[in-house]
Amino acid sequence: MDAIRVALIGCGGISRVHVDALTKLEGVRLVSICDLIEERARERAAQAGGCAYTLNWQDYVADPNIDVVHICTPHYLHAPMAIALLKAGKRVLTEKPMASEVADAEEMIRVSDGRLGVVFQNRYNQSTQYIKQAVDDGRFGKLLGLRGSVFWHRTPEYYTSSGWRGAWATEGGGVLINQSIHTLDLLLYLGGKAVSVKGSASCDLLYDTIEVEDTAHCLLRFESGINASFYATNTYCADMPVEVEAKFERATLHLFAETLLQDVDGKVELICSSAATGEKAYWGTGHAALIRDFYKAVRENRPFWIDGASALPALKALKGVYESSKTAKPVLL
Ligand SMILES: NC(=O)c1ccc[n+]([C@@H]2O[C@H](COP(=O)([O-])OP(=O)(O)OC[C@H]3O[C@@H](n4cnc5c(N)ncnc54)[C@H](O)[C@@H]3O)[C@@H](O)[C@H]2O)c1
Repeated sequence: MDAIRVALIGCGGISRVHVDALTKLEGVRLVSICDLIEERARERAAQAGGCAYTLNWQDYVADPNIDVVHICTPHYLHAPMAIALLKAGKRVLTEKPMASEVADAEEMIRVSDGRLGVVFQNRYNQSTQYIKQAVDDGRFGKLLGLRGSVFWHRTPEYYTSSGWRGAWATEGGGVLINQSIHTLDLLLYLGGKAVSVKGSASCDLLYDTIEVEDTAHCLLRFESGINASFYATNTYCADMPVEVEAKFERATLHLFAETLLQDVDGKVELICSSAATGEKAYWGTGHAALIRDFYKAVRENRPFWIDGASALPALKALKGVYESSKTAKPVLL
């Protein structure tokens, strides 16, 4: 069988993890790398075993030798790049958030025809899957509620050195759209269809440096009648493990990063613990698993399960927080 030919756009921090995963996959060949900064493109191409590189991503749109494109660029570029590539018939795997605006995300879904995947790698964690199965099979009774929290640390230099973080036009938001979107996605993945969100976003620490929020909280209400309480901040002194708790009628499942504890009537059991890995632990460690599974879908010519429709609720929810923060009213989802 011919190898699937892949290109990657955006050679910053996260691209290293994509290239690492791609070079370990059989039947997949990274043929070109793109960045506006030549040195970065060259360096990533070397990591990929010396593949070609370009400074112009639009080369990929009309290139018949490229089947799949990974988008690892700043948020505001995800939608225009994905839309052009999808319209040209390519498969696209984009980093989170799928877009920085809901309308752009909806346009991506409209043109995708089952060819779009979004990186929410934490859904692949063993701990996430354990909680999801408990929700679905009802082994602890009904799910009564969820909570999630993110206490991370981001310096002024993290924003000022990037050229795109910290500004509404290029990042599309702050801690919600960038760091804690994964946790919102997990709450939505576990809680099912959300009907409304009410919350608040503010810049508590870095208001002299960034336009966007460094702190936010919200209440998500689900069709099932349960709620999820959520808090996220980049103002803490360290990157602490993300916490998610799922409270059932007969048990509580408590997640710290990838360590999962199960409490049944006060008897606490360790279900799984954080995997040792070179990948930044607070990102989660699921990139390799997600990318492998994405290519299984490509090979079998079927849609990837974390597609635009599956990724959209997290974007809608966080944009709802921005709106409800202004109006002080719940936003319907
Ligand atoms: N899934 C995760 O856990 C995770 C973790 C980190 C980052 N990310 C996401 O990955 C994306 C990139 O993040 P990063 O930290 O690597 O950012 P980064 O700033 O380190 O890298 C972005 C790269 O894109 C390049 N670029 C910008 N405009 C371009 C253009 N027009 N054409 C080609 N290249 C262009 C920049 O030169 C830069 O090298 C973001 O969407 C981010 O949210 C996801």
